Amino acid sequence: MGGRVSLFCTWILLVLISARWLTTSSAKKCICGPCLPGPGICFGEEANNIRGPTEIVQFLQRQKLKSIRLYSTHAPIMKAFQGKKIDLIVGISNADLKLTGIAWNYAAAELWVKTNILPYASAITPIKAIVVGNEVTSVGDWDLVSQTEPAMRNIYKALKKAGLDDKIKVSTPFGQDILEVTWPPSDGQFRVQYAWNIVKPVLDFLSETGSPLMINLYTFSSYKNDPQDVNLDAALLNAWGPISVDYKTGHVYKNLLSQLIDSAYAAAEKMGHPNITLVLSETGWPSSGHEAASLEHAAMYSQNLVNLIVGGGGTPLRPDLPIQAYIYSLFNENMRKGDDDKRNFGIFKPNFVPVYDIEWNGEDIICFPHQKVSSSLDLASS
Ligand SMILES: *[C@@H]1O[C@H](CO)[C@@H](O)[C@H](O)[C@H]1NC(C)=O
Repeated sequence: MGGRVSLFCTWILLVLISARWLTTSSAKKCICGPCLPGPGICFGEEANNIRGPTEIVQFLQRQKLKSIRLYSTHAPIMKAFQGKKIDLIVGISNADLKLTGIAWNYAAAELWVKTNILPYASAITPIKAIVVGNEVTSVGDWDLVSQTEPAMRNIYKALKKAGLDDKIKVSTPFGQDILEVTWPPSDGQFRVQYAWNIVKPVLDFLSETGSPLMINLYTFSSYKNDPQDVNLDAALLNAWGPISVDYKTGHVYKNLLSQLIDSAYAAAEKMGHPNITLVLSETGWPSSGHEAASLEHAAMYSQNLVNLIVGGGGTPLRPDLPIQAYIYSLFNENMRKGDDDKRNFGIFKPNFVPVYDIEWNGEDIICFPHQKVSSSLDLASS
């Protein structure tokens, strides 16, 4: 039934998008029921051509984007989001994590919370989570890695002292390479050199505090790294892609993202954490810079992801846990280092023009069938 509703919505969506090409004044309204939040969006800032924070927040409000991941807590940005009722994940960068000494010095953690969170956090500036570092096990810095979990505990302690521990979760987004075994998903395992000394203490902390496990997952990277063995349609989450069956459990996988998510759930379960909730703290597909990166593919991936999320269903291993994800990224980022595709993950150009033709105005063209109202991007753990 749910599948039919979302198929219907997808069909309506396609009709509406085609209608928009034909006439500039097509009626936009939500057809499929109450509109729910779609995925969150990551606001990567590695660009020298983006607008100022106030203008960007006004743009987000026009687009009705209500859930944003920030990579810093710079005062101008925090001030721009103040009172705007946009759910925020805010981050402590890897550099700041080491610079501030939060891991070994509780006073530094308290100061950080006092400076960066307390002036802003409120019902109308909902800070949902603080993430400590980003992909700390992916950068080859043992000092950084060893500071992460102690820093998370100190930040949590400071939040608790401020009476905010039940409103603001604390987590750390791992990189995709934290997953060593991903097939079959039920055999999922974290990378051996980090599993017991780093991931386990983080999982313990997350379970104690009811916070989600966060991983940045890019099926694009899986495809890019191994185009011979990774099916493009499975990576693009296309419904017509091949089906894979986990030969140990019999679970049927219709796309690569669900496989990766379940391998993370299986890996966590093996470490004694069967009840953890996973949030994709980043995911996305670039629109150029690689042979598999095109406007068509980027639009497909984003739309398929939205459909998965608003469909409200989970994955074969966790059917009751809806997929929660943040799309990377809001804008193309011209200053990002690395391959060309890195600079082309944006849904929008810096001048606010959409990169590809998808409407992101939740209440307009993307329809959100009303099932599981409480599911989307609710960071609470089970
Ligand atoms: C997981 O949740 C179930 C059901 O609430 C509970 O019985 C079990 O003890 C939990 N397991 C752990 C390891 O927390």
